[in-house]
Amino acid sequence: MPRMKNMVRLPYQKELALLRKVVDHANPGDAASVVHQMECFGVELGSAGGWAKFAAGSKAQILLLGAAGSGPSPKHVLDIGAYGGGSALHLAMALPGVHVTAVELDPVMVALARCLLGFAGVGDRVRVLPGHTRFRLPGLQGQRFSGIFADVWGAQYADVLALIHRHALLSTGSVLIADNVLRTGAAEFAGRVTGPGFHTVVMPVREVANPEEEDWMTVSVLRDAAAWETSVSEELLELQARSEHLRDEATNEGIAPEEHQDFSERAREVFRKVGIAPVSP
Ligand SMILES: C[S@@+](CC[C@H](N)C(=O)[O-])C[C@H]1O[C@@H](n2cnc3c(N)ncnc32)[C@H](O)[C@@H]1O
Repeated sequence: MPRMKNMVRLPYQKELALLRKVVDHANPGDAASVVHQMECFGVELGSAGGWAKFAAGSKAQILLLGAAGSGPSPKHVLDIGAYGGGSALHLAMALPGVHVTAVELDPVMVALARCLLGFAGVGDRVRVLPGHTRFRLPGLQGQRFSGIFADVWGAQYADVLALIHRHALLSTGSVLIADNVLRTGAAEFAGRVTGPGFHTVVMPVREVANPEEEDWMTVSVLRDAAAWETSVSEELLELQARSEHLRDEATNEGIAPEEHQDFSERAREVFRKVGIAPVSP
């Protein structure tokens, strides 16, 4: 299978191009124009065969829908995996007056996110914390966010969910939204949020840069915190292991689009077998 192993990629080329696009074409302090330019960038990237990592198009719509359901008077929401600050910006715009805490592993992306959020005029309501969720989420102990958006690799969500529970980050009735559930095989997580602890809807979404590729987002409302750790089937645990393996490959040597597509199809099949499927679009 062809790999991208030997391809020379300049670091952060795409992200710098995104920054340039926004700074050159959006209006400072006008968050809507920043979102618009990010969406345009995603579409242009997609037509050039690239992939935008940020939530745009139908993904952004589900995010906003979920945010709208984050309790009657949300005060503080959490964005896990900030990248360039796109999802944090959507959340800040959809929830006026609400504070957003975003967590991002990559320090360069932290700088980019802070820069774009400041440019958009929401820097006073959004803070971007650098670091891995494993080290950052414990520091948020007991904050009880009205809503949490998680947007990292699917296999990582099991860990993230355990941290959310252990550190009391979500109240009963609050919303947890997760992206990349199908494409990166969020198997253990999907098993848990479709268990008795949550009420969950699986939404089909399209990448703005690759509209032909389906992904799923889950929108879950915490029903019973004590019941979050439901047992997960063997099939899902096996898919979880495959997802972890694919993540290692993606991080180390890159994966070919065909290989990723095969994985998604396999994930869809496993999810179908255990009764996890998206609602009709
Ligand atoms: C798909 S991008 C997020 C896109 C962003 N939510 C948006 O819609 O604009 C995933 C981001 O998560 C970050 N990330 C991955 N694992 C992480 C972890 N364990 N803790 C914090 N950030 C992480 C990556 O560096 C990357 O920037």
